[in-house]
Amino acid sequence: MRILVINGPNLNMLGIREPDIYGKRTFRDLEQSVRAWAGEIGLDVELYQSNHEGDIVDRIQAALGRFDGILINPAAYTHTSVAILDALKAVGLPACEVHLSDISSREEFRKFSYVSLYAGKTIAGKGFDGYREGLVWLRDRIGAGGP
Ligand code: DQA
Repeated sequence: MRILVINGPNLNMLGIREPDIYGKRTFRDLEQSVRAWAGEIGLDVELYQSNHEGDIVDRIQAALGRFDGILINPAAYTHTSVAILDALKAVGLPACEVHLSDISSREEFRKFSYVSLYAGKTIAGKGFDGYREGLVWLRDRIGAGGP
């Protein structure tokens, strides 16, 4: 089972960026954790990070036929990007949305997620562990044969 893990803008700044909200661990730490968890549950993962909306759209489109599911933290594009929502709909792969922070308890503008309109599951406020939960959810969902 192949899973594409996408991290959106500014997540490459983890460890430096607002540590009171996102913690002190770095983006490299996150990538290492995701690779280790994927290995433990038998998933083959590819990790992609970009600060550019169109590049993320391109990557989602290119996942068609190459991946079985997508784990995505769209970061700020969560709240603005119809294009990322449409790309997910276009490829139709099972998708799980993850956020490090609890977007429902922050500023008003973070409460709405375009990606949630497609994602089969949204996990927020669990820090790095949310990625593990998302991988397990995708494995089970894909194993059950559902979109
Ligand atoms: C985030 C939450 C978003 O609102 C924010 O723009 C991010 C990170 C999170 O992981 O908590 O960049 O997606």
